[in-house]
This record gives sequence, C-alpha cells and structure tokens, in this order.
Amino acid sequence: MGKAAAELPHSIVGVRGEAGIAMKVKKTIVLLPGDGIGPEVTRAAATVLRECAQEFHHEFELHEFPIGGAAIDAIGTPLPNETLDACRKADAVFLGAVGGAKWDALPVGKRPESGLLGLRKGMGLYVNVRPVKVLEPLRGISPLKPERLGDLDIEIVRELAGGMYFGERGNTTENGVERAWDTESYSTPEIERIATFAFARAENRTRRVCSVDKANVLMSSQLWRRTVVALSGVYSSVKLEHMYVDNAAMQLTLKPSQFDVMLTSNMFGDILSDAAAALVGSIGLIPSASFGTGAPLFEPIHGSAPSLVGTDSANPVGAILSATLMLRDAFGLSLEADWVEQSLHRVLAGGYRTPDIAQPGASTIGGSVFTEMLREEMQRTLEHAERYGWGV
Ligand code: IPM
Ligand code: MG
Repeated sequence: MGKAAAELPHSIVGVRGEAGIAMKVKKTIVLLPGDGIGPEVTRAAATVLRECAQEFHHEFELHEFPIGGAAIDAIGTPLPNETLDACRKADAVFLGAVGGAKWDALPVGKRPESGLLGLRKGMGLYVNVRPVKVLEPLRGISPLKPERLGDLDIEIVRELAGGMYFGERGNTTENGVERAWDTESYSTPEIERIATFAFARAENRTRRVCSVDKANVLMSSQLWRRTVVALSGVYSSVKLEHMYVDNAAMQLTLKPSQFDVMLTSNMFGDILSDAAAALVGSIGLIPSASFGTGAPLFEPIHGSAPSLVGTDSANPVGAILSATLMLRDAFGLSLEADWVEQSLHRVLAGGYRTPDIAQPGASTIGGSVFTEMLREEMQRTLEHAERYGWGV
C-alpha cells in the first residue's frame, strides 16, 4: 500500500480496495496439514485465506506438503527435504498438528513431533507467540469465576529453538539400571533475542513483562534472569517482573489478569500455554505465530487430538485465528484480519458452538459447519461494510 493510501480511512479507500490504491498482495503460503485433526483445521484456515484473497483481490498461492506421521507413512521421514525447502521459500507457513498413537512406539527423533521440531529449527524460528484472550461470548465457559478471570489478555512469548527440546540427550544402561537424560541449556544470545522480542511486544501492549524461570534451582535459569535484567535497561518503559515457574502456574489460575507478556523458555512455555488456554475455555481456541530468521509459521496450539478424528468435532477457531495472525503479522493485512475476527465473534455471539466450547447440555455443531457459518457471516459483514463503512 502506498503511504498516501495507508493514511486514508478505509471508507475512502473502498471496502475491498476497488479504488485501486489499497494494497493487493501476492503471497505463497505452504500448508502442512499433518495428522489427526490437523487436516480438518487446516481446511478451515485455508477457507478463510481463500475468501480473503477473493474478496480483497489478493493472490494467495496455497501449496500443501506432508509433515509428521503423514510424511512418515508417505515418505519414511517426518520432515521430508521437499517440505522444508518449500517452507523456507514460502512467504508464510500454516501447520495443522502432528502426532498420533500409530507412531507412539517410534524413538524420539523419528516420531512425528521431531518433524515439527526439525521444521522450527530448520526455518530458524526462535520466537513463538501464543495470545490467550477471553472471547466475550465465551466468558461463561471459563473454569474460573468471572471475578478471577477478569479481562484475561496475555501473550506467552515462548523461546522455540533451544532449551531441553534441543539440548544434549541420551540413555545408558549400567549394571542393568537404565538412565536417560535431556539437558536444559541456554546461551546469553539465545536469551537476549527472545527477551528483546518480548520487551518490544510489551511496548505495544500494557508494557509489562513477567519473565518465568526456576532461578532458585537451575543454573540455566540464573543466566536467563541475569540476561533479562541486563537487557531491561534498554526498555525502561516496560515494567519487568520475575516469577518462578511453579508460582507462575499458580498465579495464572488465581489471578491471570495480572499478566501482560509472559516470557518463557521452550519447555516452560509449552506447559504454561496449555494451562492458560484452559482458562479461556478450550485449547481449541488458541492460535500461535512463530518468527525467526526467515518465513514465519502459524499453528493452533491444540495438537492432533486423535480421539476427535472422524467426528467433525474439532474446533477450527485456533486455526482460523492463526490464519488472521498470518494476515496481520506476516502480510500486514490488518483490515482483512479484523474482518475475519469480527465475523468470528458474531458467529460465537450467535451461540454456535463446537462441543469443546458448549455449555453442558447445549446443542453443538460440527467444525466444518462452524467454518461454513463463518464464511456466510464474513459475506454479511462485507455487504454491511460496503453499505455503511467498517466498524459501524
Ligand atoms: C506445542 C506442542 C509441541 C511442543 C509438540 C507437538 C512437539 O505441544 O506446540 O505446544 O511441545 O512444542
Ligand atoms: Mg504444547
């Protein structure tokens, strides 16, 4: 978008950019459906991206590649070279989920999950942002009392390329006793780059960072804390707090609204993001965005949920919100992202629920029906905006 166009109100630019001066982009997007419910939620995300391209005259080329168990079955490895190459060349990558009982007996390193870890590493992704926010129509399904839930709106900034996930590991047997180990290890530059991201993110929010560690026990956490403190001087407008991970888990449950940005290691972020997701009603609602040295990757955090396969009951919202993160954070298409999100809120406000977000006894719809309702609502929102302008 030219600068002049960017400064114009959208009503003048034209709702779908017909005036010819709004930004039209051409992007290559790699889709990695993966396993379990991965393919169904990927379909939902792809529907939203295609609608967006069509209505706003963008050109999105969507290319599908195998990963995880699906790639093991088809090609014999969880991360085929072709898949990694395509992801490296793409403008953005969308991933559904990996893993499932079928591949559980495989050793670490050969499992579907190692395809995902190899992808994160291979694409140079070291930041994972997981926004966890109460969606107003779903306030009632939180396991917390309303006064505890408050206006929960946090971002977990999880380190993604280091720590125990990638540290030295092994196993031995001595005198018939088996031993296995994984190593938590972080270097100063690894901590600095993730902390820099968290501080910058907080500057555009309510300017609070809570750095999570276990510095009362772990040396790697002591370095983490020292490094974050040293860096905090550069971000003087951001209030920095430190919290041990066990207390952070408790505080999330007791008073989650105290947090803004939570800065975590790879392992602590994995654990705390599932806990935080439960507070807003379902892990099926939570998207994520990963950034690093190359193309960004977007994925819902819910995993492959094998028990839901074939029932069309997977919640597509986490995947759809991952697609809107892609639109906004990778392509700068915030109007398009707002359009999808506003429509999504209306569908939820209309009481439509997949099973994971339904009150006990309430009627539910399938994930594919939900996506179709969203598509229809997106059309209505667009027609309304064309007549009256956005946000009216
Ligand atoms: C997540 C998942 C992954 C992780 C698994 C599937 C490897 O739990 O993205 O949170 O541990 O990072
Ligand atoms: Mg996880």
